[in-house]
Amino acid sequence: MVRVVESVDQVASAAADLVGAQLCRDRRTRLGVATGATPLPLYRELARRHAAGDLPAGELTLFLLDEYLGLGTDDPRSFRAVVVDHLARPLGIPDGAVHAPEVGAADLQQACRRFDALRDDAGIDLQILGIGRNGHIAFNEPGSAPDSGCRVVQLTDVTRSDNGLGPKDPTHAVTVGIGSILRARRLLLLATGPTKAEALARAVHADPRSPAGALSGHPDLTIIADRDAAALLGPAPTPTDGAT
Ligand code: F6R
Repeated sequence: MVRVVESVDQVASAAADLVGAQLCRDRRTRLGVATGATPLPLYRELARRHAAGDLPAGELTLFLLDEYLGLGTDDPRSFRAVVVDHLARPLGIPDGAVHAPEVGAADLQQACRRFDALRDDAGIDLQILGIGRNGHIAFNEPGSAPDSGCRVVQLTDVTRSDNGLGPKDPTHAVTVGIGSILRARRLLLLATGPTKAEALARAVHADPRSPAGALSGHPDLTIIADRDAAALLGPAPTPTDGAT
């Protein structure tokens, strides 16, 4: 299902409704969380609802998708730091309930296998996703297999530049694979802004050259996009509630 709304704020609000409904069904939800700029308004909205007493979240468990290699454990750009600062702490989720790939492990392949097993054993109830301009999901860059597992990947130049990484910053990351993403019970893909229009259209049309094209095979995929990101989807997705 594709929902098109007018603004970034409305994307955040519609997505927060969906996360809230999931939490009402199961207070011990295992939530897969993306980082990057796109989900931050959602995380702010969840924090606001929690502070207002409208979102019981203390029993949530969070599972990250990916993490840069080579950043110090206290680097504020690490995805764990972002998730703790923007989501876990505001929602009162303890550090021990935030799971991320162990990028400091001596044996990264083993750490990847552990992380895949952790996600699979827990069972991700709802996976939040963003999308890169080249269609990447988590850090599955173009060419990633639809059944790929957790692994070390090299970031493309476009992804490094979009993520504001300079010459001395990380060139590699650990990412969960597309296979693990597809095993989540429900997927929620968020896309905002005109730079995502082409990538979103390719995802919706299941373009096999786009990593996000694999998502359309999932039985429970919700896409929430603002008008700019939905600009190339054609007339099919009609404005829904929240749109003016
Ligand atoms: C990061 C992640 C990435 C981002 C993507 C878009 O955890 O999963 O796939 O979703 O790079 O990033 P933004 O939202 O910054 O455009």
